[in-house]
Amino acid sequence: MPATVVVGTQWGDEGKGKFTDLVAKEMHMVVRYQGGHNAGHTIVVEGETFALQLVPSGVLYDHITPVIGNGVVVHPATLLAEVDMLTSRGIDCSRLRVSGNAHLIMPYHEELDTLTERWLGKNRLGTTKSGIGPTYADKATRVGLRVQDLLDAKIFREKLDIVLKEKNRIFAKVYNRLPVSADDIAGHYLDEYLPRMGPMIADTVSMVHEALDAGSNVLLEGAQATFLDLDHGTYPYVTSSNPVAGGACTGAGVGPRHIDRVIGVAKGYLTRVGSGPFPTEMHGEEADRLIEWAGEFGTVTGRRRRVGWFDVPMLRQAIRLNSISEVALAKIDKLDQFDVLKVCVAYEYEGKRYQYPPYHQSELHKVRPVYEELPGWRTDLSDAEQVEQLPDQARDFVKLISAEARIPIHLLGVGPSRHQFVHLS
Ligand code: GDP
Ligand code: IMO
Ligand code: MG
Repeated sequence: MPATVVVGTQWGDEGKGKFTDLVAKEMHMVVRYQGGHNAGHTIVVEGETFALQLVPSGVLYDHITPVIGNGVVVHPATLLAEVDMLTSRGIDCSRLRVSGNAHLIMPYHEELDTLTERWLGKNRLGTTKSGIGPTYADKATRVGLRVQDLLDAKIFREKLDIVLKEKNRIFAKVYNRLPVSADDIAGHYLDEYLPRMGPMIADTVSMVHEALDAGSNVLLEGAQATFLDLDHGTYPYVTSSNPVAGGACTGAGVGPRHIDRVIGVAKGYLTRVGSGPFPTEMHGEEADRLIEWAGEFGTVTGRRRRVGWFDVPMLRQAIRLNSISEVALAKIDKLDQFDVLKVCVAYEYEGKRYQYPPYHQSELHKVRPVYEELPGWRTDLSDAEQVEQLPDQARDFVKLISAEARIPIHLLGVGPSRHQFVHLS
């Protein structure tokens, strides 16, 4: 069977967790393909909220094999704490598998992330300080430690000693910090984490292909989103991996011909955590109202998210970059506070109209959004189950986005719970 990808089309927090969980019902395996514990994916089932950072969002179903792919960077303490949290709430995590090729986030990565942000001062990126950038940097410079290194204490220790020689010089000479102790790290990783992680470590590429060959449905779950992508996002205000659907190929170990469905998750408005350009950003009372009403505070860091109106040029670009076949539109219920809704259908800059974000980012900082205005619905949508139960204004809002972006919108989120969605044919 071909695989399906779930990918964020904005700057993250679109509702990927909720829709992954929803689609996972029909799947056999869910594979996270990039990112790390910078992600926060929320699923709400029968009033219980599960906030997941590393464990794939399919874990709540007994029939799913959750897999952490090779493209992910793994923070063992977070992974194990998450497994404990799920287990204590009655979720069986025994099927969870972690790729031996995934890279390990080490304590010095976290510290470097924090120090770099501090040194950047007002130019900081606003990272989650989870060590994501430094871990992927070490992967690229080929001094990273991988999950499989845990299985060989001698190799683990050798690699750690080599990398710490350089890191400790940086800590001492650049940051005036005390050296990091290899013994301490080895103690935690080999004595504390390995006994619990060992049984999870697997050849996940073979697992994925065996599942595909057996005709099982495989879902590839992205974290972050298209405009946080290292290559295609608003660099440098991005994460250090490739959330785009292409990243699912490298991060799970499948070729593009295995993927036949790409679900782009969008929110009915935009949010962004951290710095970077944001053409449709709202300010003042309008922004405060949406942030409070929609609870736009980071799942991981608790930071207040920036908010803005729906941006079709960004969605058009996301469709191109990911080969999106359909869109799931979340949180439209949270737009019920507005008498008038705005949808950005193009940008203008120096007399030129843009259907897609301009490739030169200096222009993206200066573009003026061209808005279409629609009447709001001012009604609670959270109980809607059928399209007929939606007010005309809500249907027109969805139709406008679908027509402008030329993409079918198949699912609408009308509340955080698993059952709060409307299927559009
Ligand atoms: P993710 O990172 O893309 O998985 O999204 P997050 O979980 O970080 O943020 C989305 C937030 O919106 C979470 O609090 C979800 O429970 C919530 N949510 C998701 N879909 C809907 C929806 O359709 N309506 C409402 N009201 N909340 C939603
Ligand atoms: P999910 O999967 C929203 C943002 C950070 C920062 C930038 C780089 O829940 O959608 P990093 O720690 O990755 O080096 O930070 O990326 N960021 C996210 N924003 N949702 C996320 O994940 C994010 N993961 C990282 O706020 O601007
Ligand atoms: Mg999130």
